[in-house]
Parts: sequence; structure tokens; C-alpha cells
Amino acid sequence: MSNLFAERSLHEIRFWSQIMKEHAFFLRLGFTSDQSRLIQEANQFYHMFENIEERAGAFAADTDHEAIARFNMEVYQATTRLWTYKRNVLGLILSCKIHAHLFPSFIDHISREAAYFMNRLEQLNRGMLDPLPDTVINENVFFLRLMADHAKFIAHMLDPSERNLISEATDLSYQFEQLLFQMVDLESMRPASQTAGILTRLLEEHREAMQNIHAFKQTIRELLDLCCLRGIIHPLFADHTYREANHFLELLGHLEASLTAGPEPSAK
Ligand SMILES: [Fe+2]
Ligand SMILES: [Fe+2]
Repeated sequence: MSNLFAERSLHEIRFWSQIMKEHAFFLRLGFTSDQSRLIQEANQFYHMFENIEERAGAFAADTDHEAIARFNMEVYQATTRLWTYKRNVLGLILSCKIHAHLFPSFIDHISREAAYFMNRLEQLNRGMLDPLPDTVINENVFFLRLMADHAKFIAHMLDPSERNLISEATDLSYQFEQLLFQMVDLESMRPASQTAGILTRLLEEHREAMQNIHAFKQTIRELLDLCCLRGIIHPLFADHTYREANHFLELLGHLEASLTAGPEPSAK
């Protein structure tokens, strides 16, 4: 149990600390040169999560339970500070106190990711190592929305002349929103134990859609590598969203397994 706790905690922290570090980088890129205090704060967060990422990489898998629980809590606190910073930047933009090259929905998106990471760390410290069948709908709603957002961000950052790619990204966004609303529709039909069969089928649909967006993001990455795109997508952003898609695919596997292992619907 103790080793599994360390393994799961370090796996999550290694993935999400890199993501948080890159969010700080994207925010820094979006500020104008006179916004020096915000740039400085973004740089501090970048280094804070770089340090966490390095330390997470150096922990041995057999580290004792107490040390990992303390590390989880420390990372939780750092992420809370980053979340607060992101919400503060969002507030400054929405109230027109600053003008930056950052979409408000992008800042909202990255703060939702921070909140998810905080929640995951809290769950780990409470002993919830794998997703419970009852959380399947929420987890899917969360990730499907992220995928729809990614497709929209890419559509908006392509050059307006890249019409076919923009259409493809917009179609993907629509496709993920349809899946998202299917989950929302199902949410009010709980308990999950009675909808396990339906959920299993829907997760297959999600996997198919994930494969489509995964391939699309891969194309974007390759086109950027070959210097064949004309928009404003940073190569690190393309890679970042590609890795997040991979993470959801991995989570889908865990969710499918938790549904199979979950309680059978009462036979009446
Ligand atoms: Fe992200
Ligand atoms: Fe994202």
C-alpha cells in the first residue's frame, strides 16, 4: 500500500508539475513588457515548479509514506498559490485593468487544471489511489471540456488563412462538446452503479474521439517542427496539449478498469 501510494503520488506530481511550470511560461509569454511584476511572479512560479519536478524525479519509489504525504502537501500549497495567481490575472484582464495577449478562457482553463491537481493530491493523501466508479462522470466531464478547449485554442491560434486546419479544430471542439453534454445528461441519471453499462459504451466513444484529437495534435506538432504553420502556436504549447491528451487516455484506461471492477447493478 505504502509503495503504491508513493508510486501514484510521484507519477501525478511528475506529470502535473511540468504542466504547472509550462503554464507559468505561457503566462509570461502573454504579458506585455511593461507588466514587469506579473512577469516576475510568473518566473518565480516557473522556478518553483521546476524545483518540484526535479525533486519528484529524485525520490525513490520506496520512500516512506510520511515523507511522500508531506511532499504532496507542500506541492498542494505551491499549486494553491499558482491557482490564486492565475485567478488574479484573470480578474485583472476581465476588469480591463491590464491588456495581455492571453485569452481569458485560456487562463480559466489552466486554473481548472491547477484545481484538478490540488484535488488529486488531496485524494492521494486521503488514501484514494485510483478513481472510484462514482467519479467516472465527473472525471470525464472535466477532461472532455479540456479537450474541447484545446481544439478551440488551436483554432484561434492558427493563421486565418489556414482554413482547413481551423475547420478541423472547430469540428473537434464540437465533437467533444457533444460528448461532454452526453455525460452531463447522464449525470442526473445516477447512481453510477445503474448506468455502468451505458458508461462503458460512452467511454469507448471517448477513446475514439481521443484518438482523433491525439492525431490532430500530432499533426500540428509535426507541421510546427517542419516550419509549415503560419499561426502563433508555440511549439511547447502544441506539445503540452498533446501530453495532456496522453494523460487523459491513460486515465480512461483506469476508469474503464474501475467500472469493470465496480459493484454490479442490483438485479431486479
Ligand atoms: Fe495545461
Ligand atoms: Fe490543457
